[in-house]
Amino acid sequence: MLKLSASFAALAVLLPLVSAQAAEWGQCGGIGWTGATTCVSGTTCVESNAYYSQCLPGLPTSTSSASGSSSTSTAKLQTVAKAAGKLYFGTATDNSELTDTAYTAILDDNTMFGQITPANSMKWDATEPTQGTFTFSGGDQIASLAKTNGMLLRGHNCVWYNQLPSWVTSGTWTNSTLTAVIQNHCSTIVSHFKGQVYSWDVVNEPFNDDGTWRTDVFFNTIGESYVPIALNAARTADPNAKLYINDYNIEGPGAKATAMLNLVTSLKQQNVPLDGVGFQCHFIVGELPQGLAANWARFTALGLEMAVTELDIRMTLPSTPALLAQQKTDYTTVISACMSVAGCVGVTVWDWTDKYSWVPSTFSGQGAACPWDQNFVRKPAYDGIAGAFQA
Ligand SMILES: *[C@@H]1O[C@H](CO)[C@@H](O)[C@H](O)[C@H]1NC(C)=O
Repeated sequence: MLKLSASFAALAVLLPLVSAQAAEWGQCGGIGWTGATTCVSGTTCVESNAYYSQCLPGLPTSTSSASGSSSTSTAKLQTVAKAAGKLYFGTATDNSELTDTAYTAILDDNTMFGQITPANSMKWDATEPTQGTFTFSGGDQIASLAKTNGMLLRGHNCVWYNQLPSWVTSGTWTNSTLTAVIQNHCSTIVSHFKGQVYSWDVVNEPFNDDGTWRTDVFFNTIGESYVPIALNAARTADPNAKLYINDYNIEGPGAKATAMLNLVTSLKQQNVPLDGVGFQCHFIVGELPQGLAANWARFTALGLEMAVTELDIRMTLPSTPALLAQQKTDYTTVISACMSVAGCVGVTVWDWTDKYSWVPSTFSGQGAACPWDQNFVRKPAYDGIAGAFQA
């Protein structure tokens, strides 16, 4: 008995030591975790999410911190963008990410980001899930975050073929009933955020890659005039918001860019309210289109502003030092193009960290598209962005 008690006493004394290192597969971190934060030899503490980190067998995987592949810039991106004469460097964010305190610690730095875009919560399915019933809680949270942090807000978006509730896609419409639906949707969401939004993507992705009109419910029912209908409704709802048309694969010259140029030229000629064109810039490492700046200048020559609205540059995984170096070059190319076009007002990345990038779930086998990795470590791409603003 005495021996047993002694053993228990010894165990009790040892407990703090035992808990100082978590066992293989044991928890080693997360919000609210008060236990061991280091792992036993041969295992590494890996974050699963903000609430749970676990000791996994093996050494730390070398990602962007591999020798020669890390960021060294001490510049803050909004600071250098402003100093370069741009309005903002910004990022998309999403409501579900805002509970991640390590994420918001970086997001909330307005010397890093001068602008945010809600990735999803102002889209049609989020704002008018049932006809005539509007829900703004998600959008309001992003709008109030922008206000609290002193950041510009981009509204995204009014009319788009995707993420539509089924009552829109499956409704039985005439030209005039669907026109009324667009007018009500755009005017209600734009007026709700009136005074809080720097620019709105009023129309998103109207064209196919060959430059023909995308045949969605809006085009099929109304024809091209759904575009001025939406723009006019938005202008009336918030006369001070910059109204944009936003698309991808229009960044370099080509059939789709020409279609967009022809559309915006025609809208300007008809005095339809339009202030800017958004070039999404979802790119692939090593495969950037040529002639970005010259193409963008064709649009700003019409008296429009433009912005890089959804920048990310993905690669086939796994990332390597060579891919990360090329990615840095590619980010530099995009920022340099914006720098050389006076009407390029700002650049928005489609989230700043790989942890919340849309890429891996959309493009199988691809990822690592953002300037920060999934552990919030800056990549060489970060230095590419900072350096181009400072050039
Ligand atoms: C729908 O009505 C508008 C006028 O509001 C007109 O410009 C347009 O051509 C019509 N579309 C079709 C497909 O008839």
